[in-house]
Amino acid sequence: MLNLNDYGIQMWDEDKIAAFRRTLLAWYDREKRDLPWRRTTDPYKIWVSEIMLQQTQVVTVIPYYERFLDWFPTIADLAAAPEDKLLKAWEGLGYYSRVRNMQAAAQQVMTDFGGQFPNTHESISSLKGIGPYTAGAISSIAFGLPEPAVDGNVMRVLARLFEVDYDIGDPKNRKIFQALMEILIDPDRPGDFNQAFMDLGTDIEHAKTPRPDESPIRAFNAAYLNGTYDRYPIKAPKKKPIPLHLTAFVIRDGKGRYLLEKNTDSGLLSGFWSFPLLSAKPIAEQLDLFTQSTSSQLMTQPDLTSFEQDYGLTPVWCEQTFPAVTHVFSHRKWHVTLVAGQVSSAMSPKNKETAWVHPDDFETYPFATPQKKLWTAYQHEKN
Ligand code: ADE
Repeated sequence: MLNLNDYGIQMWDEDKIAAFRRTLLAWYDREKRDLPWRRTTDPYKIWVSEIMLQQTQVVTVIPYYERFLDWFPTIADLAAAPEDKLLKAWEGLGYYSRVRNMQAAAQQVMTDFGGQFPNTHESISSLKGIGPYTAGAISSIAFGLPEPAVDGNVMRVLARLFEVDYDIGDPKNRKIFQALMEILIDPDRPGDFNQAFMDLGTDIEHAKTPRPDESPIRAFNAAYLNGTYDRYPIKAPKKKPIPLHLTAFVIRDGKGRYLLEKNTDSGLLSGFWSFPLLSAKPIAEQLDLFTQSTSSQLMTQPDLTSFEQDYGLTPVWCEQTFPAVTHVFSHRKWHVTLVAGQVSSAMSPKNKETAWVHPDDFETYPFATPQKKLWTAYQHEKN
């Protein structure tokens, strides 16, 4: 067990811990948000909500959550879902490996646990894509196990409560916050206790606009009481995402259909459909240029010849220019230039998974957010 004193943290005595639990839970009972996943103890539903809530706000998640459970009401349905439908259910949420991992985990539950969601912290942690945070959340909320669920919000609240002088963004410091929470967590109501921290973290103890005077636990908050509130949490600034320049080819045939291509790489947007996208320069070269800080050199002309050779099509290229589309992923920033062209006959390129699709049928294909932005930019200028 980690010794908190070694990290300059003074833990409270038993009475203060008990008073803290009472105060926090009384506030939660009065103020807790009424959320769909708080009306159930079904571990499958809680799992779905917790995965969606990583990096996405509650208001955005609610409709996704309801549709997901409508489409895949049981673990067996999720385990058997076709890829297109799975990606469609997650379309717009980003971080698509999360839903792929969920399906792999659902298959694990079917084969290794007889279709029953496992009910110990260890077995829950053994499922694909379930890390310490999610395992803690499911264990405590669905099964009443005294396991902390430590995410960025919880670390921020704890950093202020105890004036923790360690960077909350550094993964090696997570153990400090985990140890704090293991002591604080209420063994009788661990799920509510964890969720009270989540509610505090997303509202009163907000990262940029906190309202510490309104906090139900201000009397326990060392940073608040000592006038050091502005210093916490310690968090090093994030690295900037690396810019990548791409060209999107919007090719229409005589029947008003567009060429779409399925991304068959194993990377970021694997399985999604989009207009053909070509890197404006080889990715490795772009990364090199970026590290030499000369990325402005990357604003090259779209390479129409490469497209014609790769796809075996010779479109009539439009003169029109379109607004550039940008999209930020966690480590990458895409700058996409649109190029439009028209072909008279819709040939399907060899060695690629493509389809000629009328816009009325777009909704049957999984589109990630960059493709949606490209379509919007194209339509906006076309009219
Ligand atoms: N964020 C992550 N998990 C949550 C939960 N169970 N309730 C509200 N916000 C959350």
